[in-house]
Amino acid sequence: MLLSDKDRIFTNLYGIHDWTLAGARARGDWDGTKALLAMGQDWIVDQVKASGLRGRGGAGFPTGLKWSFMPKTVSDRPHYLVVNADEGEPGTCKDRDMMRNDPHKLLEGCLIAGFAMRAHAAYIYIRGEFYREAERLEAAIAQAEDAGLLGDDACGSGWPFRIYVHRGAGAYICGEETALIQSLEGKKGQPRLKPPFPAGVGLYGCPTTVNNVESIAVVPTILRRGADWFAGIGRDKNSGTKVFCISGHVNTPCNVEEAMSIPLRTLIETHAGGVRGGWDNLLAVIPGGASVPLLPKDICDTVLMDFDSLRDVQSGLGTAAVMVMDKSTDVVAAIARLSDFYQHESCGQCTPCREGCGWMARVMHRLVTGDADIEEIDILEEVTRQVEGHTICALGDAAAWPIQGLIRHFRPELERRIRARKGSSGMVQVQTAAE
Ligand SMILES: Cc1cc2nc3c(=O)[nH]c(=O)nc-3n(C[C@H](O)[C@H](O)[C@H](O)COP(=O)(O)O)c2cc1C
Ligand code: SF4
Repeated sequence: MLLSDKDRIFTNLYGIHDWTLAGARARGDWDGTKALLAMGQDWIVDQVKASGLRGRGGAGFPTGLKWSFMPKTVSDRPHYLVVNADEGEPGTCKDRDMMRNDPHKLLEGCLIAGFAMRAHAAYIYIRGEFYREAERLEAAIAQAEDAGLLGDDACGSGWPFRIYVHRGAGAYICGEETALIQSLEGKKGQPRLKPPFPAGVGLYGCPTTVNNVESIAVVPTILRRGADWFAGIGRDKNSGTKVFCISGHVNTPCNVEEAMSIPLRTLIETHAGGVRGGWDNLLAVIPGGASVPLLPKDICDTVLMDFDSLRDVQSGLGTAAVMVMDKSTDVVAAIARLSDFYQHESCGQCTPCREGCGWMARVMHRLVTGDADIEEIDILEEVTRQVEGHTICALGDAAAWPIQGLIRHFRPELERRIRARKGSSGMVQVQTAAE
């Protein structure tokens, strides 16, 4: 069933209405925030748990459970909320529109989430290129402070709360939560080993929770409308609304908030004008940002867009960035291009990632032209397994998975290119001057 307008959380996703505090209040933001805070920290965490909300930054970890890892009492180390607004995953462009057009939803979410984890400060780490969005957030924070919604007595609750915007410098790896913390501290943005997890030792060595923009921005509406309302949308363990980013070979690329678990085909045909040339012209879809394995058309025919159904077909919801490729696509070249991206963005700390990303990219480029041996397909697959799960952060996995997906679903195409280049003899054909 499609999401009805009355169930949309992001009512100004397209920037049609007034983004300022007056406009946001007219749409229901900052309504009764004081009363929500008065319900207490445990109540807020329990409601978020009951809603079934899972992190919208890629991994889908349950948000309420994550908050419950923060210490229940505050020691001499202050608690921090950090909002991940780095949005570096190729194909993903949702957080940017939320911040540009609905900044107060995120700010109110920061106050409620920060209070629930006993923090008096939140840092929004925003991708450096999002200059206008950072400007807007700063302006929205000033509006909220002038109105007494943020500051020494946020919303008259007696809880001091401030929000700071920090602009990154454009490295994809700074979206990984521990690299983000390092970068926020003024250090080189390289991931830290976990454990310790940020809830124990995070920003400046203090208890910290890092959450995606969307994960935080949906919280005020969940509390106002009730955990049951949110849990009732989508499927069990895959609940709520979700903003999907649809790009590539569709007629009308867009961001759209829909019900979790919507069929992929319905999503594309209802909101993105369908695949260029019709559904039968579909070759493959990357359903969750560049890091997840692609899916061929026969799986796209029926798959549901949620964490569990995409996991069941050996892919993932990731950031819900749906990249559509029609039959005109050179799918091997497309994945090779992603390999270049991961090679470029590897921070270099772990040998399997640093060396493996370059190695995989080089082999991928030879596969584009077929300049390889058939056995190298298996060697490439084996190397992806050596990288996957053997690194400090998930960038290694992200580099391995798209290649695994390509081999799983398009092996005949890889072999065809190799045979075509070598000729039926299996030997590479060399053109001589006499020819
Ligand atoms: C290489 C890499 C890049 C990432 N980039 C982002 C990003 O841009 N935005 C984001 O929210 N999460 C990103 N993540 C996931 C974060 O590490 C973290 O899981 C997320 O911010 C947690 O928020 P959530 O629980 O609300 O999903 C990235 C992870 C990796 C490994
Ligand atoms: S997996 Fe790659 S990006 Fe992540 S810490 Fe290791 S080298 Fe850096």
